[in-house]
Amino acid sequence: MQITIEKLNYIYLEGTPFERHAIKELDLSIPSGSYLAILGQTGSGKSTLIQLIAGLLQPTSGRIQIGPYSFEAGNKQKMLARRHVGVVFQYPEHQLFAETIEKDIAFGPKNQGLSEKEIAERVKMAMEWVGLPTTLLNRSPFQLSGGQMRRAAIAGVLALLPDILILDEPTAGLDPKGREDLLEMIDRLHRERQMTVILVTHDMNAAAKYADFLLVLSEGSSALFGTPAEVFQKQEELTHLGLDLPDITRLIMRINRSASLSLPTNRFTLDDLVESLLARLRKGEDL
Ligand SMILES: Nc1ncnc2c1ncn2[C@@H]1O[C@H](COP(=O)(O)OP(=O)(O)OP(=O)(O)O)[C@@H](O)[C@H]1O
Ligand SMILES: [Mg+2]
Repeated sequence: MQITIEKLNYIYLEGTPFERHAIKELDLSIPSGSYLAILGQTGSGKSTLIQLIAGLLQPTSGRIQIGPYSFEAGNKQKMLARRHVGVVFQYPEHQLFAETIEKDIAFGPKNQGLSEKEIAERVKMAMEWVGLPTTLLNRSPFQLSGGQMRRAAIAGVLALLPDILILDEPTAGLDPKGREDLLEMIDRLHRERQMTVILVTHDMNAAAKYADFLLVLSEGSSALFGTPAEVFQKQEELTHLGLDLPDITRLIMRINRSASLSLPTNRFTLDDLVESLLARLRKGEDL
């Protein structure tokens, strides 16, 4: 489902001394099936924006269109759009509550009024997607490891078969291996199930490696938008916005400086980098 956002504004506590204009005149278009990473310093409006897209906050003004559903200040279409959007909040494992993993994951599908058989199928499928063995079905969620608890919580969202999966800092607090596994899992859902993914992250490496598009927010406005290659070319702007470059980009720039080379700085995996260097060699070009 295509997402189109026009002149979106959100003001917290409007008309009080604590008023905060958290999203300002934002325009954004997210093609169906694409992977968007939202970046920006703390307080830049990332979580507010995803709550607006998920229909959990009502725009102060402006419009959000998700597939055929349009919602703006005052109308109720967001209830319809909500069915298509799954949100994984920060530390989602804090929302696990049922006495077994099965019941926890089944909670959403049950509320949608599915049959027992359909619910069981959804639970099994969601566990498979997140890589949890079904032998854990009858365990208490609280007997799982931290990484497994997070997967179980994400499975609960996936069991609703969202077209659009939104994740707010899903890797926070995980060790490097847990982070990588989770990001790979999300990427697989995106590629194999054509799920639109919106990832809020502070991790430039993940944004560069996985996203099709990056949105950099600054004080509620769009500061930069484009492909990772486009956005990470804007080193000065990024520094000004308090954001780093991906490690691989910093490494390539360092090599270029110290060895007077001009290796491409728009490749974000080693495979892509090597591929582009080999292509240059084949054409008889200098590195
Ligand atoms: N419930 C609220 N009431 C009032 N102001 C809020 C509320 N939630 C957020 N804000 C303010 O709105 C602005 C945007 O906050 P938001 O949480 O969207 O930022 P963020 O980019 O997600 O930050 P972080 O990286 O720390 O998660 C901030 O100035 C914040 O203080
Ligand atoms: Mg946030």
